[in-house]
Amino acid sequence: MSKEASDFRYNTGETKVPWAAVGENYNAEDTYAFVKFLMGGKGKAYNAALKDVKAAIAKLAKVSVAPGKLSMGDKVNEVERMIDKYLGVEEGSSLFVSNCTAALELGYRYAGIGPGDEVIVPANTFIATVVYPLSVGAKLVFADVERKTVNMDPKDVARKITKKTKMIVPVHIGGYPCNMDAIMKLAKKHDLVVMEDAAHAFGGEYKGRKLGTIGHFGCFSFHEVKNCTSLGEGGVFISNVKAYRGEARRARFLGVDFTSKIHNWLYNISLIQGKGNFKYQASNNASVTEIQAIGLMQQIKRYSKILAERKREATYMTKRLSGIPGIIPQDLGNEKVKLTFHLYQLQIDPKIVKGDVQLLKKKLEEKGVTNIPHFGPIYRFSAAIGKGFDEKKIAATCPMTEYVFDKCYTHLPIYGLTKAQLTYMADAIIASVAEMKAGA
Ligand SMILES: Cc1ncc(COP(=O)(O)O)c(C=O)c1O
Repeated sequence: MSKEASDFRYNTGETKVPWAAVGENYNAEDTYAFVKFLMGGKGKAYNAALKDVKAAIAKLAKVSVAPGKLSMGDKVNEVERMIDKYLGVEEGSSLFVSNCTAALELGYRYAGIGPGDEVIVPANTFIATVVYPLSVGAKLVFADVERKTVNMDPKDVARKITKKTKMIVPVHIGGYPCNMDAIMKLAKKHDLVVMEDAAHAFGGEYKGRKLGTIGHFGCFSFHEVKNCTSLGEGGVFISNVKAYRGEARRARFLGVDFTSKIHNWLYNISLIQGKGNFKYQASNNASVTEIQAIGLMQQIKRYSKILAERKREATYMTKRLSGIPGIIPQDLGNEKVKLTFHLYQLQIDPKIVKGDVQLLKKKLEEKGVTNIPHFGPIYRFSAAIGKGFDEKKIAATCPMTEYVFDKCYTHLPIYGLTKAQLTYMADAIIASVAEMKAGA
C-alpha cells in the first residue's frame, strides 16, 4: 500500500495496527465477474476458455495480495504524469477527475462565475459545456459558429464581449481545433479566462500544441463514447495557471487541506483560491478510482494507433465523398491543424442538393446508417429558455448556427468500422444525395 497520502480516507501508511483503505476487497469470484463482463461471448470455445480463466483466477487468488487501496492512489498519480508527458505540459498540470463536466466546473469556479457574469460559449455544443454557468444564474452569451468547422467564430466572440464578460469557452467540436490564436488574442486584450472544452479533442493539435493546453484551462472527457476511456467515465482538468493546480487538486475532494491542521484534527478544510481575491468552498467530490486510472493508461499506451485508425477511416470517407457537387466532406486537417476524428462531420449545400440535412438524415436512417448529432443550439433547450433566454432573439444573433444545424450538418460514426461498413455508409450518402437532387 502507498505511504503517500492522497486523500485522508485511511491511507495511513504502515501502522502497527493496519487500517486498510478498502473495507472489502474483491475476491476471485468478483474478479471473474469483471473478466466475464469485459470479455463477453458465447459458444463452445468461449465457454471452454472461460472455464480455464475461472480456474486460473482461483489459483491466482491463493497467492496474490489485494491492492488495499482502490481510490485516489498511486495509479491515479501515474496516469496524471503520463498525461502531462503526452500533452507536453508542465508536471502537475493534469488532474484526473470523475468526468469532463466536473473538470469544467473547476475552471468556472476559478473565475468565480456567478449571477450576472457573462460567459461566451459556442451556440452549438453539448449541454455539459454550459451546465455550471446556467445553474448559477450566469448569462450565457452564444457565439455563432464558423461554417466549415461548426466551432465558435472568433469574429462573433469579439462582437459579443462586454464589460461583464469573464470567460470564453471554445469547444473543439468533433476534435477539430478552434481558431485558438484569435481567441487567445481577444482574451488577453480583455483579461478573460479561456477554458477549452476539449472533450472530443484528446491528442488533437493546433500549431504544434496539443488541444486543451492552450487556454488557461483545458478539459477532456474519457466517457465511454470518446476516443479513449477510463472504464466508461472520467475526465481530466489541465491547469496552465500554476497557482491553481494545488487548489484544483483540493477542490476535487471537497477542499480537504492536509497542509494545515485544525486543533486535535488531521486536516483543515480551507477555501479554494480562485482568480484575484476570489475564494470559494469546494462543493464536489470528483474523485476517481485506481481501476479507472489503469483503464485509461492502457488505452493511452495504444492511443497513437487509435488516432491513426480514426484518420484512416475518415480519409476513406472523404475520398469517396469528394468531388460530388453539394457534398462537403470532413476536412482532414494539415500540419498545423491535427484532428482527433472523434466524429465524421458531414455537411451538404442544401441549394445544390435540393433539400436540407433533415431529409438526408431521414434517408440515411432508412438505409440503416446511424447519424448521431447530439449537439443542438443550446438556446433552444427549455432549461435555457426557462432562465430567461429569448430563443428568437438569440437565434437572430447566430444565423450560421441556425443555418448549419437545420440545413447542412450532421455527423457520423467513424471508428471500428469494417471496410464493408465504410463502403456501405459512403454508398448510402452518395445514393441519398442523388435521390434528393432527383427530387425523390
Ligand atoms: C462537448 C462536450 N463537453 C463536455 C462533455 C461532458 O463530458 P463528460 O460526460 O465526461 O462529463 C461532453 C460529453 O459528451 C461533450 O460532448
